[in-house]
Order: sequence, then structure tokens, then C-alpha cells
Amino acid sequence: MPSKNYKMIKTLDVTYEEYPNWSDLSQEDLNLIKEAQKARELAYAKYSEFKVGAAILLDNGKIITGNNQENAAYPSGLCAERTAIFYAVANYPSAVIRKMAIVAGKDDENSEPVSPCGACRQVLLEYENRQRKPIEFFFTGTKGRVIKFSKCSDLLPFTFDGSLL
Ligand code: THU
Repeated sequence: MPSKNYKMIKTLDVTYEEYPNWSDLSQEDLNLIKEAQKARELAYAKYSEFKVGAAILLDNGKIITGNNQENAAYPSGLCAERTAIFYAVANYPSAVIRKMAIVAGKDDENSEPVSPCGACRQVLLEYENRQRKPIEFFFTGTKGRVIKFSKCSDLLPFTFDGSLL
């Protein structure tokens, strides 16, 4: 028996899905990815040239898109995910967010899936907690593999949330 003060080793398990290609997704999910792809093309990424598009599917059927907006004062810019979700919750505060797709890369040859940055995860999780329903996440490069997470909380374990305040 370990003594009372013995350290414990704990493990977190996170399950996610990986699809080899966009065409392996359902029609609804592929459509959302394509909306994110279109949004990516409109990104204002003058400084990094790394374009990101995000598309959100609401339970009212609407799709809200956003892209990264950079600025000469670098930290003043905003990621695609937050651009999209802030618009969605500002305009449809009572809608449930069902899914978000993210498409990113410098060019059309990026087959490495790009996951949301830490600051975006924190913001996305706030709204997942608020609506008490999971948000599915799909992320991909500009082609190829797609990663799917079934809820945002899996992307940010040990989150800081309002219950701690
Ligand atoms: N970016 C996003 O839009 N989303 C992310 O999750 C990661 C990074 C943007 C921010 C910046 O405009 C560019 O990608 C390079 O970091």
C-alpha cells in the first residue's frame, strides 16, 4: 500500500477520429469544411501569409464563417476561430453551436491538420460550457487528413473556467 503522501500518477485519455481525406466525411461535414475553405481564401494574412478559415454550423441551420485578420501591430490581429465564433454568438446568442470546421495553411499543398491555438480553445470552450452541448471540431490543412474531436473540452483539459472564480 502506498503511504498517505505518496504521489499518484494519473493519465488523461482523449479519443479523436482521423479521416484520410475530405471526401471521407459526411455530406454535412464536407460542406462545412468547404465553407471554411472559402473563408480561408478571404483571410487578411498580410504578415504571416498563413491563411485560416473557420465555419460554424448552428442548430438553426445557418453557417457562420470567419478568417484570420492580421494587423501591423501584431497582437491586435485575431484568429479565424475567434472571428467566427464572436460573430456567431453576437448575432445568434440563443442558437446552439453544433460544429466548427477549420481549414489552414500557407498554400493549397498543406496536408498537415491545423488545430486551434490555446487562446481560441479557451474562448471556444466558454461557449461550449454556456450551451451545455458539445461542439464538434474538424480541422485540416488545405487538403488531405481531417481530425475530428467530438467536444471542445477534449482539446483543453484542466481548463480555467468561471466556476473557479
Ligand atoms: N491563426 C488562426 O487564425 N488560428 C489558429 O488557430 C492558429 C493561428 C492565425 C493567426 C495568424 O494570423 C496566423 O494564423 C499565423 O499565426
